[in-house]
Formats: sequence, structure tokens, C-alpha cells
Amino acid sequence: MTCGQEIRRLAAEKGALILAHNYQPPEIQDLADITGDSLELARRAKEAKESTLVVCGVYFMAETAKILSPEKTVLIPRPEAGCPLADQLTPESVRAAKAKHPGAPFVVYVNSTAATKAECDITCTSANAADVVRALPEDTVLFGPDANLAAYVQRLVPEKKIIPVPHNGGCPTHHQFSVRDIENARREYPDAAIVCHPECSSEVQLASDMVGSTGYMLRNCGTKKEWVILTEKGIIHPLQKKYPDTLFHAMDMAVCPNMKLITEEDLYVTLRDGVVPVQVPDIIADRARVAIERMIKVSK
Ligand code: 13P
Repeated sequence: MTCGQEIRRLAAEKGALILAHNYQPPEIQDLADITGDSLELARRAKEAKESTLVVCGVYFMAETAKILSPEKTVLIPRPEAGCPLADQLTPESVRAAKAKHPGAPFVVYVNSTAATKAECDITCTSANAADVVRALPEDTVLFGPDANLAAYVQRLVPEKKIIPVPHNGGCPTHHQFSVRDIENARREYPDAAIVCHPECSSEVQLASDMVGSTGYMLRNCGTKKEWVILTEKGIIHPLQKKYPDTLFHAMDMAVCPNMKLITEEDLYVTLRDGVVPVQVPDIIADRARVAIERMIKVSK
């Protein structure tokens, strides 16, 4: 049996559901039961009937699954797979921002720790950030840790004031893309349309033809026959599978090292040995769950 076949055999034997983010290595995505963007993974983890979930992604994704399903065993093959964004907003800085802007709710990007979520009013993903902000009754909203996503929401919801916390938070992978890259891509691929993730800088967002989450890209890249994709390269695999006759160009540097840690061998060991279980203390999970479930309720 190949490693992949062993993984599927063990998953069936243990009644485990494998979820993988759209940035995971192609072979991991192909072994998963469910692939998706952050919102889709959170929803599917909550709805899952299986008692064991294996989350192939970065740590906050597995943590979110555990918070939503505390009764389930949630395993992550490489718990050291962090998210640099999540480290840019601490519970203390959320409390300080709320003290400075009394009455303003804090919308926290899911790319954050459970302890930070526990201090916030509602979470959001890149797929629903504008809907979440619109759903709030308040006119002034604190938003973090991604300042580019905050600026994106500000453009879509101009009637509200969005205060980014911190003012310069961002994802190092998405922050690399520049308007120069877009100009070069337009010269090299004159027939291609350009889509970027809202974690890219505002200048890059404005110079692109479309902006959206990885799930949005998968839903909307059927409209043209050639694309330049400005997000982590892993997305090319599901795009190419869904649109086999479309040409997709990724940027060489678009690699999130954390998203590339999990190997087939890791996934096999995870299923065989039940490692590594994610734990979130109740005192944090109970508060973070309120913020995540509020988001799920207002998401389309
Ligand atoms: P999506 O929710 O668009 O898949 O993005 C996840 C992410 O972590 C982007 O860096």
C-alpha cells in the first residue's frame, strides 16, 4: 500500500475527517475529505459528525476547530505551523485598544490566537470581513491584526470608521507583492486577469482586477481563461483541478513556509498515533467560541 492509501485506510478505521486548507501541498489536499478557505473549514469542522478531526493547516485553524467542537478530538500533524499574523495582536493590545475607544467592538481576523479571540467581540475571515462589519450596529469598529484587510473592508464599508490594530499588521507572504509585480505580469501575460487576496497591500488590491479570499478565487476564476494569482501558491492546485482548461500563473515567492510543513508521513503518524491533540483551556475557549459563532451566524 502507498502512504496515501494507508492514510485513507487509517482515516476510515478511526472515523476521522481530514480537513485541508487551500494552501496545503497538493498531495495533502488530495488526501483530505474537505478542502476550503478558513471560513469553509471552520463551518465544516463545526458541522462534522466524526469524533476526530485532523486539520491540515496552520495552528489557529486547528484551534478554531477545537473551540467550535470541544467534544471532538482535533489533531494537527505539525503544531509548530504558526501564522505570523496571529502573533501581531495580543490580548493586552486588544484590551488597550478597547479602553482607548470605548463602545467600539473589536473584529478579529481568524488568523489570531484563541486568547486574543477571547477578548474580541466577533471574528471574521477574508471571505466575510465586510459582512461582519456591516452586521454590527456600531459606526466605529476596531479591526486587527491585518491592516490590509482592514483597508479592504474600509473601502467596501465606507459608512463606518475602521480602526486597524495594530496600524501596520500584515502577512509577510502577501506583503511581498508589489504594483511592479502586477505591471510586469500584465506585460508578460497581456490576456490574463489579476486576482489578489485582501491580505495584499491596498496598492496591489487597487491595481488588481479582483480581490477575494481563496474560496472566492475558486468560485470566480471560471470567468476568464487566464489568471495571475496573487496569494500563496498552494491555491493553484485546486484552481487547476476545478478549471483544467484555464491557465494560472503564480508568483515564485508566494510560499508560506508554515503551510508547507505537513507531509504525507506526518499525516500518517497523526492518524496512527493520535497526535498532536489540540487543547484550548475552557476559560479561553468559552469566550472565543462566542466570537466565532457570532461570525458564523452573520456569514452568508
Ligand atoms: P483564506 O481564508 O482566504 O483561505 O485565507 C487564509 C489565510 O490564512 C490567508 O493568509
